[in-house]
Amino acid sequence: MDKKRQPIGVFDSGVGGLTVVNKLRKLLPYENIVFLGDSKRNPYGSRSKEELLRFSREILHFLTEQQVKLVAIGCNTVTASVYDIIRNETAFPLIGMSRGIQTAREISLKKKIAVFATDVTIANHVHRNMAAQLDPEIEIIEQACPGIADCVEQGKLQGPEIMSLLRKYTAPVLASGADTAIFGCTHYPFVQPLFEELCGDKIVFVDPAHEMSLQTLEILKKDSLLNHDRLPGYLRLCFTAEAERGARLAEHLIPANEFTVEKIEL
Ligand code: DGL
Repeated sequence: MDKKRQPIGVFDSGVGGLTVVNKLRKLLPYENIVFLGDSKRNPYGSRSKEELLRFSREILHFLTEQQVKLVAIGCNTVTASVYDIIRNETAFPLIGMSRGIQTAREISLKKKIAVFATDVTIANHVHRNMAAQLDPEIEIIEQACPGIADCVEQGKLQGPEIMSLLRKYTAPVLASGADTAIFGCTHYPFVQPLFEELCGDKIVFVDPAHEMSLQTLEILKKDSLLNHDRLPGYLRLCFTAEAERGARLAEHLIPANEFTVEKIEL
């Protein structure tokens, strides 16, 4: 097969990575994409490094079999915990989830940037470390949000359960005076309207999937891997469990006639 026509792989613990797929398809509509959501083992947000390493390697093995030309990791938790270990283990370029710091830095007037993310991502301080390298004057306010990715995964995109969790997590961030916040977990953009409802006009939200898609374009260009076909790329959504639920959530972002769905075993 012509390498340029091979698909891009994207993976996550579940439906969160679809927010990355959505942005990739907008920027690169001619690219074919294979998405793997590990819904059987979701959530990843409090998993050990050993588990995340094993899961990532299994998923990368599956994506290698699908003959991907590049993989974009649509998961902050995996990126924060094990990207440094797996980055050189594949024969194709492997892109870690973008931090969104570059974009947030341009938006924030006060240089006070909050990060909403999973326990593992926050414990690794990846946003704080990157910001310190870019500009020591940036203050990063870290807020772990256990439970939010689970709600999104189960399709609870509104209602008292997710609202009370979000109230609890946005309150300290509002009190900190941050004027910009990064979605440090790919599940969270599914409930951006709820975050906005609670934060009003005090905080601007940054979805790093935007930076991620630009970074993917750069690497495809650099490695001469851009697909030159001028047909809409196919999108295969593969889930390790709950494939129908995954498809229903995907429809919040992507029209149903633009993807196929499969349940797979790793
Ligand atoms: N969506 C993933 C992330 O960006 C993982 C969420 C989870 O499974 O806890 O971190």
